[in-house]
Amino acid sequence: MSDYHPDLTRVLIPADTIQARVQELAHQIDSDFEGVDHVYLVGILKGAFIFLADLARQLRCPHSVDFMALSSYGKTTSSGAVRILMDLREPIEGQHVIIVEDIVDTGHTLDYLYQVLKGRNPASLHTCVLVRKVRQGLDFPVDYLGFEIPDVWVVGYGLDFADRFRTLPFIAEMKGDQILS
Ligand code: PRP
Repeated sequence: MSDYHPDLTRVLIPADTIQARVQELAHQIDSDFEGVDHVYLVGILKGAFIFLADLARQLRCPHSVDFMALSSYGKTTSSGAVRILMDLREPIEGQHVIIVEDIVDTGHTLDYLYQVLKGRNPASLHTCVLVRKVRQGLDFPVDYLGFEIPDVWVVGYGLDFADRFRTLPFIAEMKGDQILS
């Protein structure tokens, strides 16, 4: 780990494990959407860009890709206000939409986004998340989930600390004292 950075303590999910799970998720989506003429993937920037790129390239069902950018405040509070910084380019009414996220932590971001997109009357709306933190009292429902992880700070495969480490091919745990400092 220290080859990469002294603040990274251990690999939580190795690259080959991630790739195998992404392939499984893609197969599951292909099977569930068999016969559907088009699936609209919505990636949430920045964190989801790598997961979405790998997932989309494994999908066989016809699909297109778009992105949204959100900003969230008060992650440690129960309010967790979320704001749209960049919206989709097209209306999603009548579309089969899958929200693609790298991580569900408090669940505020996905909860907010789900309600917003639901209000735009898609034909169907699903969620696909690479990792969900196991946190007491929080169990945001996810349709396609890669991994459950402990409530630690993680980086890599799209996930960052101060915008660093996003392009690591694996997911690693970061030292707690770095996060507090
Ligand atoms: C991260 C992640 C999710 C959100 C999850 O985004 O990509 O969008 O936090 O947290 P929540 O479940 O507590 O709402 P972040 O705001 O760090 O932006 P980034 O994707 O650009 O890193």
